Amino acid sequence: MTATPSAIERPLNFSSPYLRADLVRDAVDYTVEGRTIVVNPGVTPVTIAEEFRKTIPPLSSTVLADTRIEKADALLLLRPAAEDAEMAGIVEQDGWSHLADLLDPGEFSRETPLHRSPRDEINTVLFDPAYVLGERETQLDQREFNVSANLWFAPAGTDCFIHNKHDFIEVHTQVHGLGRMQRFRNQDQASLYQDVLMSPGYTTPDPFCATGPQCSYHYPMHQYRADTDCIWLAIEYHPVPRALRTLPLPTLLENRS
Ligand SMILES: [Fe+2]
Repeated sequence: MTATPSAIERPLNFSSPYLRADLVRDAVDYTVEGRTIVVNPGVTPVTIAEEFRKTIPPLSSTVLADTRIEKADALLLLRPAAEDAEMAGIVEQDGWSHLADLLDPGEFSRETPLHRSPRDEINTVLFDPAYVLGERETQLDQREFNVSANLWFAPAGTDCFIHNKHDFIEVHTQVHGLGRMQRFRNQDQASLYQDVLMSPGYTTPDPFCATGPQCSYHYPMHQYRADTDCIWLAIEYHPVPRALRTLPLPTLLENRS
C-alpha cells in the first residue's frame, strides 16, 4: 500500500503471515496496491478515484486492485496470503482462542470448532443507529460508538450456533472461503428463512438487527455457517453510555424528579 503523507497506517493486531490486515486512518488520495479486500467501517461513502466514480457504501466492502481511494476517515485492508491457501493453522497464531475459552463454562459447546482472533480497537464514531439500520431517513439522534474488529475461523461444514443476543451492532465481511449468514424463526436449524451467501470481499448488506429501547439491539435468530474452511471479519459497534455530565442542565433537573 502507498500511504499519502497524512494517512496513518498500522497492522491490526490479528495481522499474520496467513492474512495481512491493516488499518488506515485519514486517507487522502490513497493508493491500494495489489488485490485487496477494502472495508469501509464508517457511515459515509468512500469514493474510488476512477473515471466512473463509484463508492464503497457505509458499513460495506469490496475487492480493489491497483487503484486509489479519494478520502476516508478509516479503512480496513485485508490480504489473505493466497486464495487457495491452507488457512486452518491461523488459529495457532498469537491471541486466537476457541470461543468456549472466552465465555463462561457451558455457554458455548467445545464441540463447535469456532475460533476468534484477538480484538483490535479501531476508532470511535458518531451516528444515529436508527438511520444506519434503515429505520428512518434522516439522522436525528447521534450516538457515540466504539468500533472494534476481529477475525473468526471455522472449518468446512460448521454451523456456528444459532443466537440472537448482542448488545452491539455487528457487521460481517467474508475474507476467505465460502460461507453464509443465516436467519431462523427459532433455534431449530429447520426454521431457516433466509440464507445470505458470502464469498471473499462480501459484507452482509445490512446489519441483522433493529434498535430497541435504551440503546439495545434486537436480533433475529441468526448464525454463520462455513461451507468451506472460512475466515470472516466481524466489526462491532459498541454504544458508549451517555454520561450524565454531558446532558444539558434542564435534563439533569428533570431526571431528579
Ligand atoms: Fe451474531
